[in-house]
Order: sequence, then C-alpha cells, then structure tokens
Amino acid sequence: MKAITLNSTQPSRLLLTEVQTRSLMPGEVRVLIKAAALNHRDEWCRQGRYPNIKDGVILGSDGAGIVSEIGEGVDYSILQKEVIINPALNWGDNQKVQSSSFEILGMPRNGTLAESVIVPVDRLFERPQHMSWEESAALPLAGLTAYRALTYQGNIQSGENLLVTGFGGGVAQFAVQFGMALGAKVSTSSSSPEKLEIAKSLGVLHTFNYLDHNWISKAVEETNGFDLIVDGAVGDTLNHLIQVAKPGGKVVYYGATLGNPTKLEARKIFWNQLKIIGTTMGSDQDFKNMVSLVNEKKIKPIIDQVFKFEDAEKAFDRMRDGKQTGKIVLVP
Ligand SMILES: NC(=O)c1ccc[n+]([C@@H]2O[C@H](COP(=O)([O-])OP(=O)(O)OC[C@H]3O[C@@H](n4cnc5c(N)ncnc54)[C@H](OP(=O)(O)O)[C@@H]3O)[C@@H](O)[C@H]2O)c1
Repeated sequence: MKAITLNSTQPSRLLLTEVQTRSLMPGEVRVLIKAAALNHRDEWCRQGRYPNIKDGVILGSDGAGIVSEIGEGVDYSILQKEVIINPALNWGDNQKVQSSSFEILGMPRNGTLAESVIVPVDRLFERPQHMSWEESAALPLAGLTAYRALTYQGNIQSGENLLVTGFGGGVAQFAVQFGMALGAKVSTSSSSPEKLEIAKSLGVLHTFNYLDHNWISKAVEETNGFDLIVDGAVGDTLNHLIQVAKPGGKVVYYGATLGNPTKLEARKIFWNQLKIIGTTMGSDQDFKNMVSLVNEKKIKPIIDQVFKFEDAEKAFDRMRDGKQTGKIVLVP
C-alpha cells in the first residue's frame, strides 16, 4: 500500500512509498483510509523533536475510513462500517491520568497517513453522519484534547468567560466551538486578523490579536477577565494569560509550542488563587462524551485545506508555518 513515511535522507524528511502491510492479530481490524488529518505532533516528528523516532514509520494519528478486514475474535458486524479512530491507545481506567503504557497512534506505531491502518477494534467509533470524510478525519485527536481541556480539566460552566488562544490551531478551533456549545461566553486570540474574522463569523464574542501590545488591557476591559483560558503555546505568554485570568480562574494548557516560560508571575498566581493545569488528549470516556456532543450539536471541524498524499510536503510546511485556520487534511 501507499504510505507517507518518515525518511531522514529526504530534504522534506518525508517519503511517499510502497509499504508492506502485516496480517492482523486477534482483536485488530484493518481500516481503509478515506481521509487523514495532520496534528502538530506529526510536524514535531518530522523535525525529529520526539524521542525514539525511527525512519520508515508511517505518521498520522487522525483517520476516517471503512473497515475492510477483521482479526480473530472481532464481530463480523463491524465489516464495511464507516468509522473514525480514537488515536489514544491504552489510556487505562483512571480518569485522572493515562497509564504508563499509553500510546498515540502514528509513531512509534504505524499511523493513518496510508491507504490503510491496523488498530484494535475498541478504537473505532461510528463516523458522525453530519460530516464529510474530510471532516470526520479532522475530529479525533484535536477534538478529544479540546474536550478534556474544557470539561474534565477546565470544568467549564454555562455563562462563564472562556478565552481560547491561537484560534488558527487545530485544537483551538474545537475548543472555541465546544465552548460555545457548552454555553460559555467565548473569546479567542490569533496573530491573524483574517483568522479572527472567521472566529467572529462563528459567533465568538471578543477577539484579540496577541501580537498587539495592548491586547491584555483590551481583554480585561472588554470581558472583565476569564474564568477559563485554554492555551497551547505557553512560553512567556503564560504571564499574559495570568494577567487576563479572573481571580480564582484557571489556565489549562495542552501544548507548549513556544517552549518553557523564562520567568513566571508567581505572586499573581497565588494571590489571585489561580490554577495552572496541564492536560493531554483524553480518556476513552472523554472521547465518547466528545463524540456525543459533536453529534448532538452537529458541530463540524473547520477544514483549512485538503491535500493529496503526493502533496504531503506542502501540507506539513503549511502547518510548520502556522498558515492554517483549523485542520489540514490529506487524502490517499
Ligand atoms: N497534549 C496533547 O494532548 C496535545 C494535543 C494536541 C496538540 N498538542 C500540542 O499543542 C500545540 C498546538 O497543536 P495543534 O495541533 O492545535 O497545532 P496547530 O494546528 O499547528 O496550531 C498552532 C497554532 O498555535 C498558535 N500560536 C502560535 N503562537 C502563539 C502564541 N504566541 N499565542 C497563542 N497562540 C499561538 C497559532 O495560532 P494563530 O495562527 O491563530 O496565531 C497556530 O495556528 C502543539 O504544540 C502540539 O504539539 C498537544
């Protein structure tokens, strides 16, 4: 089958190539991929910024497709079903934290940027019927991360002020849409006025360009501060978020695109009784709840662009350069 593999001998570090598939183990299924989507993780892997990266691995955590083959012990009724894949493997039973054998589909295990992928049958969910194949593929990893950040970690309540930073990001656009669906008063930030216009068209109440030096005072003036802030950037911007959080508020962060902060407003954190909380993807229960919300409210991912597998380098470069609004999708 055709697959996008990591290959350090290529200038792009990617190679679209023929790969041998293996036979199924008990409890596994083969899914023929109709569409797959990128997450920033795929770009970090291409840049070699994850441990244990090896050439030849098929990247990709997100995919939607049709079940074409089942392993021993799998019920026949799943054959030919249209599915999405939960890329969080072996979370375990503890809702608070993943188990030590937790794994994400697509490095080290072969992922979804291929004509087919093998996964345990319990990772499959029925594809949301109100979505296209491309939209279905865009949902799993970012949707799960945004949902847990808002609910389990952020405990967002209807009527609360929510700020989601970096609206252009894959997780961020879900956090904005889920926040609105859960009744929050949603604001967002971005480096791009065009992206902020898209956010406004979705019904976001307040928008801020985080490159403007006065965005912090503007945010406090317009909203009186935020009960919950969901962020994937951190770096020194964490101090800005501490300034726009309401006393007693929370900052939930799922990524650190800008790295560690070089300084921290520690006094402001304790005096204002702030909670700074980390979150990663989500449990099986989070995934189930996220899909229910998406189906109930007919939420659709924002798709930035759809690329053919042959144009994978362009797709990865677009993510590296932060040009996207929403999810970048690849089709075989
Ligand atoms: N822990 C987890 O489970 C988990 C899950 C998913 C992602 N992540 C991590 O979270 C980060 C985002 O992932 P993604 O897939 O959503 O990435 P993405 O689609 O590539 O989005 C990145 C976005 O970050 C925003 N950004 C850049 N600098 C910023 C700043 N100074 N302040 C606020 N926002 C800023 C940009 O928004 P604008 O273009 O609007 O300016 C950009 O579009 C990555 O580091 C990723 O590895 C972690």
